[in-house]
Amino acid sequence: MSGRILFVCLGNICRSPLAEGIFLHQVKARGLEGRYTADSAGTGDWHVGNPPDTRSINVARKRGVALPSLGRQVRKSDFEEFDLILAMDGNNRRDLLELSPAKYRDKVKLMRDFDAAGDRGADVPDPYYGGPFEFDNVYEMLDRCCSRLLETLEGGASKDGGRHTGDAARDAPASP
Ligand code: 4NP
Repeated sequence: MSGRILFVCLGNICRSPLAEGIFLHQVKARGLEGRYTADSAGTGDWHVGNPPDTRSINVARKRGVALPSLGRQVRKSDFEEFDLILAMDGNNRRDLLELSPAKYRDKVKLMRDFDAAGDRGADVPDPYYGGPFEFDNVYEMLDRCCSRLLETLEGGASKDGGRHTGDAARDAPASP
């Protein structure tokens, strides 16, 4: 019942599947499987059922990271089913907040709220119309954010006595 993370962007083929793959890779590398699950979705429906963009697949593959999921659109039940919903940019966040039942709005945060490099609250730029440099840049940014996210979630778990099922939505502070 905890540690369910949903990553959301516009198309669900570039940024959010990359975030999902990196997060799951880090979870596995830290031996935390079973404590966290992740999925990704788009606010738009153009790429439902499609694999991620080949540029995201390639930038991840170079680092040994697999991108497991196919495109899907955000649905209302996501707000109940996930503990933490991370928007890649401000537009995604706005769209999520419009769709979310009021009682779940606190679950919606920006991915770069977890950027240890300092640009908290900034957008993960959409690389769709960019080239390989943009995808490499987004990869590094997401890798950083996923590290801080996991540290924050794990810190939240240890603060209350090493419980192994932190409630991610509650434990993740607005300003980590
Ligand atoms: P994403 O990038 O939101 O990071 O998946 C995009 C992918 C596709 C489109 C826009 C952004 N599109 O317009 O199809």
